[in-house]
Parts: sequence; structure tokens; C-alpha cells
Amino acid sequence: MSSIKIAILGFGTVGQGVYKTIETHQKELESVLGKKVEVAAVLIKNKEKDRGIHPGVLVTDKFEEIIDLNQLDVVVEAIVGNEPAYTYLQRAIQRGCHVITANKEMFASYGTDLKELAAQHDVSIGFEATVAGGVPVIQTIQQLLNINRIKKIEGILNGTSNYILSEMRAKGESFSAALTAAQEKGYAEADPTNDVEGFDAFYKLMILSEIAFGGKPDWERVPREGITAITREQIEKAEKLGLRFKLIASIQLINGEIVGSVRPTLVSKSHPLYHIEGVENSVSIEADIVGRITLQGPGAGMLPTASAVIEDLIHAVLKTGVPGNSFRMQQQTPEDSQVKEKQNW
Ligand code: HSE
Repeated sequence: MSSIKIAILGFGTVGQGVYKTIETHQKELESVLGKKVEVAAVLIKNKEKDRGIHPGVLVTDKFEEIIDLNQLDVVVEAIVGNEPAYTYLQRAIQRGCHVITANKEMFASYGTDLKELAAQHDVSIGFEATVAGGVPVIQTIQQLLNINRIKKIEGILNGTSNYILSEMRAKGESFSAALTAAQEKGYAEADPTNDVEGFDAFYKLMILSEIAFGGKPDWERVPREGITAITREQIEKAEKLGLRFKLIASIQLINGEIVGSVRPTLVSKSHPLYHIEGVENSVSIEADIVGRITLQGPGAGMLPTASAVIEDLIHAVLKTGVPGNSFRMQQQTPEDSQVKEKQNW
């Protein structure tokens, strides 16, 4: 039986989670997809470091070696920042692979272009893992849009900030101790400035805006503020008044204009986000027919994010098939492919 061959670009928290989940859930994958999923290659920064990757897997720091593999069906990208991630995904799509990304910053900037490119090449592009970790917010919105018009999306989109605020409140931790714990648990970005200054929530909000409203507001006109100015004293004072600080991201249509913001907000007990604590994310979607739907779950971490990536993988293969084989066929003369096909049998 042939297998679905995938490459993982980047072997940080998300890349490792995807690798592990494919190992531990091979049986489930095989029963859903009818084929094994094989990690054919992993792109890492430092290939001397032992990563516990199976010896049969190509481990390399050169993308060219991966993109030139004989058969490659799916490329999972879990790198940080715009480049080289954007270029790698363009190359993978042009080669005819399905692509899946967990890279919020890159997808907020280039998602529209990548979706267009993927449509031109008849491959699937998955980005569930870019927003709210393991919470299936993208597929929920896409499904709602079959009949609904979205009016507003609001929620907690950064697990690290929510974790820090919760730890400062519940345990009296300092900001830096809580941030260190979030980093150790694999919640925070490589550069945690993105988490605590609201950039990460902002990128996620822009991705949601694009799906829900078919466009994004002018980035310069979206107020963005993080949690670094909030002190333990302020948190304690708020607690005495029955209030909590939450980093709330919000996007809505007002008179046909898309208006968004990311800012810390004091909420009272009656507010739906008051009880969202720790690394949890919560996203409320308000739509014209269904009303309000709220999703809640782990917004960061190795396995929840891996779960979102693997869901995209399953969706891509079930919806569009396995593209790697057709790529190989396109590159060959009819005679060549007949010979190769016989050899494959
Ligand atoms: N650093 C991100 C967070 C990871 O804390 O939410 C998940 O996108």
C-alpha cells in the first residue's frame, strides 16, 4: 500500500507535536485515509542536534533537498515569521503539494496570495492551526458562512497572555515568572513580544477577518495593545471589585466597514470571557441566522496545535486526494510513467 508522504518544515513545539501525533495515531490515520501517513522529511535549523527522529526520515537544513524529493504529497509549515516560510509554501504549492501552515504572522500577511496560488494549482491549503490552537474556529466559520452572514467575532486569541494574567491573579506570580512558565509549557512564541504586546492576537484577528468578511481592515487603523502595562496591584484591585483583565480581540462590520481592535479590557462576572482562564482561548461568533456561537478550548501547546494541523491534513487528503503522485506523473513522459507505475506495483 502506498503512503501519504509529508514533510515538516520547522521542528519547534508545533513540528514536534505533528511528528509525535503521526507516530501515536497512525492507526487512526490509516483507518480514516486508507493509507499510512509517512513523515518523509523534516527541515530543521541545526541538524547536528538529536531530535529523536526515526533514522529513515530525511533530516536536513536545506529546503532544496526536501522540495526535490521524488514523492511528496503534503508540506506542513511550522516556522516562525514571514520568510522563508512564505517562499517555501509558494514553492510547495507550485510543485503540486497540499500545504498546511501554523504560521500566523506569515498567513495574516500572505494568506490571500497563498489561497489564490493553491486554487490555481488545484491543491488544498490548511490554516486551522493559525488561530486558537486546537479550537476548530476556522472550519466553524467556513461552515457557518454557507448560509450565515457574520456580524462580529470577539474573543481571547492568545493563550500566553491569558495564562500570564491568570497566574498573576490566582497565584500572585510576577509577570516575568508567569511568562517563563508559559515559555516552558510551549505556549509562548519564540519571541514572546508577539504574545504579550498583542501582535499574535492581532495576526489571528486579521486571519479571522479575511475569512469572515472577505477582507481585512487597514492594519494601521486597528488599535493594538498588549498586557505588559498591567501590574499585579491593578489585577488585585480589580479582583476586589469583581473584575478581571482579559486581552480581548474583536472584529465586526460597522456600516459596511471592518472595524477591529486588540486591547486589555476589564470584564465583570457576567461577561462570557470572565471565566476563561489559563491557556484557554474562547471565540464568540455572531451571525445573522444562527445567533451567537461560542467555542472554547486550548489555544496553544504542542498537542492541541498538532490536532488542528492533522485535521487539516485529513481534510486535504479526503477532499482533494493525494497530489504527490500526480505531480510525479506530470513530470514524466507517458512512457516513463507507465514504466514507473509498473515498478511501483
Ligand atoms: N503563542 C501563541 C499563544 C501560540 O500563546 O496563543 C498559539 O498560537
